[in-house]
Amino acid sequence: MCGIFAYLNFGVSRERRYILQVLFNGLRRLEYRGYDSAGISIDDSLPPSATSSSSSSSSTSISSSLLVFRQEGNIESLVKSVYEDVAATELNLEESFSVHAGIAHTRWATHGEPAPRNSHPQTSGAGNDFLVVHNGVITNYEVLKATLVRHGFTFESETDTEVIPKLAKFVFEKANEAEGDQPVTFSQVVLEVMRHLEGAYALIFKSKHYPNELIACKRGSPLLLGVKELNEDASNGSTLHDSQFLSKNGQPKELFLSSDANAIVEHTKKVLVIEDGEVLHIKDGGVSILKFDNAKGRHGAAPSRPSSVQRALSILDMEVEQINKGNYEHYMQKEIHEQPESVTTTMRGRLIRGGSCKAKSVLLGGLKDHLKTIRRSRRIVFVGCGTSYNAALASRPILEELSDVPVTMEVASDLLDRQGPIYREDTAVFVSQSGETADTLNALEYASENGALCVGITNTVGSAIARHTHCGVHINAGAEIGVASTKAYTSQIVVMAMLALAIGGDTISNRARREAIIDGLCDLPNKVREVLKLDAEMKELAKLLIAEQSLLVFGRGYNYATALEGALKVKEVALMHSEGILAGEMKHGPLALVDENLPIVVIATRDACFSKQQSVIQQLHARKGRLIVMCSKGDAASVCPGDSYRVIEVPIVEDCLQPVINIVPLQLLAYHLTVLRGYNVDQPRNLAKSVTTQ
Ligand code: UD1
Ligand code: BG6
Repeated sequence: MCGIFAYLNFGVSRERRYILQVLFNGLRRLEYRGYDSAGISIDDSLPPSATSSSSSSSSTSISSSLLVFRQEGNIESLVKSVYEDVAATELNLEESFSVHAGIAHTRWATHGEPAPRNSHPQTSGAGNDFLVVHNGVITNYEVLKATLVRHGFTFESETDTEVIPKLAKFVFEKANEAEGDQPVTFSQVVLEVMRHLEGAYALIFKSKHYPNELIACKRGSPLLLGVKELNEDASNGSTLHDSQFLSKNGQPKELFLSSDANAIVEHTKKVLVIEDGEVLHIKDGGVSILKFDNAKGRHGAAPSRPSSVQRALSILDMEVEQINKGNYEHYMQKEIHEQPESVTTTMRGRLIRGGSCKAKSVLLGGLKDHLKTIRRSRRIVFVGCGTSYNAALASRPILEELSDVPVTMEVASDLLDRQGPIYREDTAVFVSQSGETADTLNALEYASENGALCVGITNTVGSAIARHTHCGVHINAGAEIGVASTKAYTSQIVVMAMLALAIGGDTISNRARREAIIDGLCDLPNKVREVLKLDAEMKELAKLLIAEQSLLVFGRGYNYATALEGALKVKEVALMHSEGILAGEMKHGPLALVDENLPIVVIATRDACFSKQQSVIQQLHARKGRLIVMCSKGDAASVCPGDSYRVIEVPIVEDCLQPVINIVPLQLLAYHLTVLRGYNVDQPRNLAKSVTTQ
């Protein structure tokens, strides 16, 4: 969803053209999250007389000092319009700035349609005294708007964000009236604004009254600061644990702010994960941090007394290659094909070897101190959305089997809608690739308030879910850029299989089973490599299905989740109606749909449900169903009743790990269907990677 990026160079000369490129590239790194408009602000340097007549397009408003460019549509249309507008104003792209602060934003429309007036930066009004880029939702904006209107402000957008720069202007003017000779500082203005905001937000402020300064603050939504020291001596002398490092004024440096590490890692790996309630003031090359003493939760109003805090930087555990496509055409394709490596990384250091050099047990460092509590829980409740929910569903049977603790499933939004019961004796496991999904995060807050032990399973270190859970496991799958989640799904299942082993404990009665699963985990990357060889076959199958309106996927047991997830992939990227169906429910409705035209994938790999699935195939065959059967290698002849059926033969693994293998051909099918149908693979229509609003 919405994305924030800002770039501030200090003590190093940067041309306007370069600054624009850095801002545009930052926006391109945020594209994958999903957006429908974008905007930037940079400094002007033309005299007022030259700028007053230069507002050449409806999407551009130019003041005497700050330029704002906003455009509906993709980043490239913003880039084009910026260069057109710059040419029209004869603004010099070669002009150098030894210090300059630029801000940028991708917007996912929530309040108001995608349009330049609703895009960010949002402004305090003509003159652009204060500009704001915002992620999140301000829940009390109507009250604030009514107050500001009473004080003479007029609003041009339908956004909740517009109240923020206008409130800043109001506070600034009031403070200056009151203070007389003692001008109010930028951070004082923002702290006062924050006191009035309710909801979740990450914000960056830029103001013509505070040239070359930026303020960043957040509550609920993520925000990172990246620091690149340009003076070698200075950076050699500083250690990451030097909390003075940030506040060192005067050293040449480049600073980056973003809601997403992807936009920062190509510039620097030194980051500060900004915490809720913190206000960062960047001025004269230094960064000072103020924090509200008793910052309330995401939905409460901010309290009043901020104090100065010192923070150390950390290092991003991420490589630039992870966010590039490499030799692949699309991120989704790359991420499907890197699953042998991603599941390997997920297991690295977590499978403990026994005497015979074979892995014998698992160690999940983040959970080891909590296993006893989890084992004693009355039940384990899995909570997630979309693919993450499906991954949890795929893992439920093995967790129930090994832990003997009842496991229930909750779609996060539904748990919140019902205010479903969560007890102190529960362990609630929050599964989320991004760690920022609003529904899952709100469900976490709810479960935490109800006293449950909250465990996170997430791919994003430092994410809200990772920080707000009592303990958890990072899946370490590497950055996932494609909106359709693929490698995170398989890594989540691997982590949850390890979770089941860790909770289950080693008893004589289950030892053989545990060892088989652990051996299966060790060999899983090879098996994923093997199943990826079906790529060309899946492309051929996609060609056959290209014009279909609908596709059903039947699964049960361990592979009910595979049916749901396979159908979700086809639906979200190939834009084809697709439904995952619990095969046990076939006779209770879905059978009515079966005819010789509707394609149906039936998953019938070897596990406890195999004979039941064989019977399902027979019944569909009797009704002339158009079947595509997924079966274990070598089973094709025995499983398929007719020669005309397409068969997808997959390698056999331990039953609880089979969903990791079985989803791969369906991911490939969805990918090829999407490309063949001519749709956008990585940014499917209307969808966002990270759904940060409810
Ligand atoms: C950790 C280190 C890893 C190091 C390894 C061995 C991190 C992020 N991981 O991995 O670099 O190689 O020790 O020393 O520093 N957590 C939550 N909620 C979540 C996810 C995680 O609270 O949703 C917590 C865990 O309880 C744990 C910490 O975050 O305290 C790190 O979790 P994880 O990365 O899974 O731990 P290790 O695998 O031990
Ligand atoms: C969005 C994404 O809908 O959120 C999905 O497009 C994802 O791919 C879902 O499964 C849940 O996201 P997360 O980050 O909580 O796993």
